[in-house]
Amino acid sequence: MPEFQPFAMERMMSRFEQDVEYNLSESGVHPVSLSELLADDPDYINHLLATELNYPHVNGIPELRQNIAALYDGATMNNVLVTVGAIEANYITTRTLLGAGDEIVIMLPNYMQIWGIAKNHNLKLKTFHLRQDNGWAPDLDELNETVTRDTKLIAVCNPNNPTGYVLTGAEMDHIVAAAERVGAWILADEVYSGSERLTDQQTPSFYGRYDKVLAVGSTSKAYGLPGLRIGWVVAPVDTIDDIWARHEYTTISATILSNKLAAIALSAQVRPRIIQRTRDYTRKGYPILQRWMDSHENTFSLTPPQATAIAFARYHFDINSTEFTERLCKEKSVLIVPGDHFGMDRFVRISFGRPQDYLTSALDRIHDLIVELRG
Ligand SMILES: Cc1ncc(COP(=O)(O)O)c(C=O)c1O
Repeated sequence: MPEFQPFAMERMMSRFEQDVEYNLSESGVHPVSLSELLADDPDYINHLLATELNYPHVNGIPELRQNIAALYDGATMNNVLVTVGAIEANYITTRTLLGAGDEIVIMLPNYMQIWGIAKNHNLKLKTFHLRQDNGWAPDLDELNETVTRDTKLIAVCNPNNPTGYVLTGAEMDHIVAAAERVGAWILADEVYSGSERLTDQQTPSFYGRYDKVLAVGSTSKAYGLPGLRIGWVVAPVDTIDDIWARHEYTTISATILSNKLAAIALSAQVRPRIIQRTRDYTRKGYPILQRWMDSHENTFSLTPPQATAIAFARYHFDINSTEFTERLCKEKSVLIVPGDHFGMDRFVRISFGRPQDYLTSALDRIHDLIVELRG
């Protein structure tokens, strides 16, 4: 077998997330039920029952692509390819644009998918960082130094997983300028756009700021619908066609039912309700986590996330992050993500977008392990 870089976080989650009593490893909010999704109109059910279980349009049904396009200034449905989750969108987009030896610059810390793709496909991997000592703002000097004439693609995640940092308009302009200077693409993973905690203003897309942007989105995080497995990429029409040609190799299409359900979720009628629901979860959950951390004096340092349902906290007790989370899983049946999965030991990523009782009980168990560790 060729050498292979596994996706450490997804490996851990797929092994344990269905078995633990408390799963705080997921980065989205508590999932929407089917009845909750369809609550606005009884005709939705009839519409779904009449569905022939055929292949849908391979690039996504028109109604869904229209609803996605409406979220991006200047996009039409021809700029949209529907994929099986953002994970497929990121994968086939990267594989379309880059071959072995091509230079990619990745924002870190990050959901490590594109990092792993770069390793597995022998891309020339370079990085720039969000700095904790600067409230997780990007190090733009480092970006400028890192991007060269050889850079083909800059991959960013905004709002960011795991820090919840949201780039300012000026920072976005700076990233665009760095790409424009060398003619590089920007792959903007924007799956957390809509999960803002501190504002009702949705995080703006990179799409429309520069002509070589690929904007990736999904129903999994901001919409609380990960089980639909619907993602998308929005890009120039000819590039969409090139990515679509890869999609025919990987999955052909998402399912017809998911296409239809996602079209309902992203409709003008339903979408505001679902987005509000996500924000309610993040806004109610975060203070619970914050109070819990505050009650552990000198134990955690956390820059509050501006968006997402996750907190990336540095901890100040003496154990490796993987060892800590493995013990938590085994001894307390609680799953969280070790900083090691982001290349940052002594951090943990904890989800707070859960119902209050669930979150409180899970945090109690984490507390118990911390007490045991301190002897
Ligand atoms: C930044 C980011 N991109 C993509 C994904 C994958 O999402 P999806 O469920 O849409 O495939 C995740 C999942 O955690 C993520 O955090």
